[in-house]
Amino acid sequence: MAKQFKIVKDKIPSLRERCRLVENPNDPAILELINEMHDYLVLSQDEEYAQKHHIREGVGLAAPQIGQNLRMLVVYYKDYVDDKEVEIDHRLINPKIVSESVKKVALSAGEGCLSVDDAHPGYVYRPYKIIVKAFDAKEGKEVFITARGYESIVLQHELDHLDGVLFYDHISKKDPFERIENSELI
Ligand code: NI
Repeated sequence: MAKQFKIVKDKIPSLRERCRLVENPNDPAILELINEMHDYLVLSQDEEYAQKHHIREGVGLAAPQIGQNLRMLVVYYKDYVDDKEVEIDHRLINPKIVSESVKKVALSAGEGCLSVDDAHPGYVYRPYKIIVKAFDAKEGKEVFITARGYESIVLQHELDHLDGVLFYDHISKKDPFERIENSELI
C-alpha cells in the first residue's frame, strides 16, 4: 500500500516559496520520502488504482507539492525508443541546471500540473536541451543528466516548483499561443 499524499494546490502560498537545499541527501528519511514520491507517481499511472483513490495521473512530482519545502523531485513515465519500452525514472535531490540550449521547445497541447485544477491554455517555452547536476537517490551519488525534448520539459517543470514557479507563469498574457523563433512544438 503506497503512501497517500495530499497534493498542495496552487492557491496555497507554500507552493510559491523557494525550497531549501537538502543538507544530507543520504539521510534515510530523505531517501524514504523520495521513494514514496516515486511510488505515488508510478501508481498514479495505474488507471484502476488512480480511480479508486481519486488521484490524478502525473509524470512528475516535486516536494513542495506534498507540503515539503525541500529541493527534491521525481519524474517517472514510460517512453518508446526504437519500439522498445524504456522507463524514464529520476529521483533527484538538490537538482540544478548547469547548461541549457538556446533552442526552445513547448508542448503543443500545453502543460498540466497535479497542483493546478484550472485550465491555463498556451505554450510554455523552455530550453530544448538541458544538463542537470543532482544527487541521484537511486544511484546514491552525484550525477549529470542530459535531457532533450519532452524529458527536458518535465524536468524543468518540476525544477520550477522548487523555486515556487508554476507553468502558467511562463505563458504569454498578450498572446498565449505565440510562436517564437528557434523553437519547436512537440
Ligand atoms: Ni507541476
